[in-house]
Amino acid sequence: MKTQMKTLIRNGQIITATDNYKADIFIDGETITTIGAKLDMEADVTIDASGKLVIPGGIDPHTHMELPFGGTTAADDFRTGTIAAAHGGTTTIIDFAVQYKGESLLQGVDNWHQKAEGKCAIDYGFHLITTELEDKQIEEMYTVMDEGVTSFKMFMAYPGVFLVDDATIFRAMSAAGSRGGLICMHAENGIVINEIIKDALAKGHTAPKYHALTRPTMAEAEGVHRAIAIAEMAESPVYIVHLSCADALNQVRQARDRGIPAFAETCPQYLFLSIDDYGDGWDGAKYVMTPPLREKSNQAELWKGLKMDDLQIISTDHCPFCMKEQKELGKDDFTKIPNGAPGVEHRVSLIYNGVVENRISLNRFVELTSTAAAKMFGLFPKKGTIAVGSDADIVIFDANKDQTISVNTHHMNVDYSAYEGKTIKGVVETVLSRGSIVIDKGEFKGKSGNGQFLKRGECVSI
Ligand code: URP
Ligand code: ZN
Ligand code: ZN
Repeated sequence: MKTQMKTLIRNGQIITATDNYKADIFIDGETITTIGAKLDMEADVTIDASGKLVIPGGIDPHTHMELPFGGTTAADDFRTGTIAAAHGGTTTIIDFAVQYKGESLLQGVDNWHQKAEGKCAIDYGFHLITTELEDKQIEEMYTVMDEGVTSFKMFMAYPGVFLVDDATIFRAMSAAGSRGGLICMHAENGIVINEIIKDALAKGHTAPKYHALTRPTMAEAEGVHRAIAIAEMAESPVYIVHLSCADALNQVRQARDRGIPAFAETCPQYLFLSIDDYGDGWDGAKYVMTPPLREKSNQAELWKGLKMDDLQIISTDHCPFCMKEQKELGKDDFTKIPNGAPGVEHRVSLIYNGVVENRISLNRFVELTSTAAAKMFGLFPKKGTIAVGSDADIVIFDANKDQTISVNTHHMNVDYSAYEGKTIKGVVETVLSRGSIVIDKGEFKGKSGNGQFLKRGECVSI
C-alpha cells in the first residue's frame, strides 16, 4: 500500500476568499485534513511559513499550450507551460482544446489529451473551442460534458478560422446551459474588423501598432452585447473571455444590473499594459494579442469592475510566440503576426500588486486568482480554497520581497517578457500541488507527468 506523506505548514497567515487568520495546516497525502492553531501533529515534512501568506494555489482558466495558431504553434507545451505556471503560484490550468471544422467534438478533446498526458507538472482541465455544432452534434456535446469538459469557447472573431455564426452560438448556449455547461465567448465583431484591416493595409499601414488601431473597443462592446443578448434568448449563462476595455465592461455591467447571469474575466495585460506599449516599431509585435492593448484610461475602469464584481476572474490568455521566427512571420504585415502573448508565470504576483496599490482587498485577490475560477468551472471546493477536505494546492507567498520580471529569469519557453524590467511586490516561495512540493524556495522540485486531468462538474456555482 502507498504510504501517505504527511506535511505540516506552520505559522502562516492563511488567506482565502473569505478568511484571514494565522494557523497551521496538516496535509495527509494529497488532502488538507486539519487546520488549527499550533497543531501538535507528527509530519514527514514541516514547512515554516512564519511571516508569509498562505493562499490557495492559483487557477488560470485560460491558457493555450501548444496551440497551432497563425501559421505556427504556441511556444510553451504542457511541460514547459505548467512548470512556468507552478513557479508563479498557479496549480491548475484550464487549457483550450480545439474541435476543428470537420472533426467531432470528442476528437478535439482527445487530441488535447494526447498533447497533455504525461507532461503536466500541475493539474489541468480543458474547455473545448467549438467551431461547428449542428443539431446532430448536441448529444456529443453532452458526452464531452460527461467526460469533464463542461465549458466551450466560441468565437465571434477570426473569420475563416474559428468564427461561428449567431445560430451556432444560440444552439450551443441553449444546449450547454440546459445541462450546467457554460459558453465562453471571444466577443469581438471579426467581420467588421476585417473590413477595417483591409482599409489599413490598402493605406500601407503594416506595423504592429495597426493591430490595435484596427480593432476598436466598439467591436468588442458590440460582441459582448450580442453574446449576452443571445445568452438571454437561450436562457443560459455566458462568460466573456479576455475582456479588455471599459466599453465592453459596461455591457456586462448593464446586463448584471438587470440580473442576467453574464460573467467575465480580464487579464493582467489589460490591467498593466496599454496601447502605448506598441510604439511605432517592430518591438510592438510582442503585444500583438487579441483583443489588443487599450488606452490607459481603461485600466482604472477594469480594476473598478474587479472590485465591484462586474468582472469575476483574472486569467492570462497565455499564448506565447517567440519574437524570433514566430512573431517574425508578420514582419511586413501585422495581420500575419501570430496573436498572443506569454503571461502564465506572473499572474498571481502581478495581481497581488492590486492589493499593494489598494485597488482590491487581499481576500478579493485570492477570489480573483483562484476561488472564483474553481466555482465558475466546476472545481470547487476540491480546488480554489484552503479547507479541510480540499486538495492541498497551496502557495506560500512572501509579500515583503520584490521581484523584477525578465526574460532572463522567467521559465516560460519564450524569448521575451511582456513585463521586462517591471519590479513588483511579492514572490512565490513554495508551492504544493496535491500535497507534493513542486516549487521549493523558487526551485522546481516537481515532476512533469504528476499533474492530473480534472474532470470538471457543472459550471457557474458562483
Ligand atoms: O491573442 C490571443 N488572444 N491569442 C489566443 C487566442 C484567443 O483568442 O484567445
Ligand atoms: Zn480569444
Ligand atoms: Zn485565448
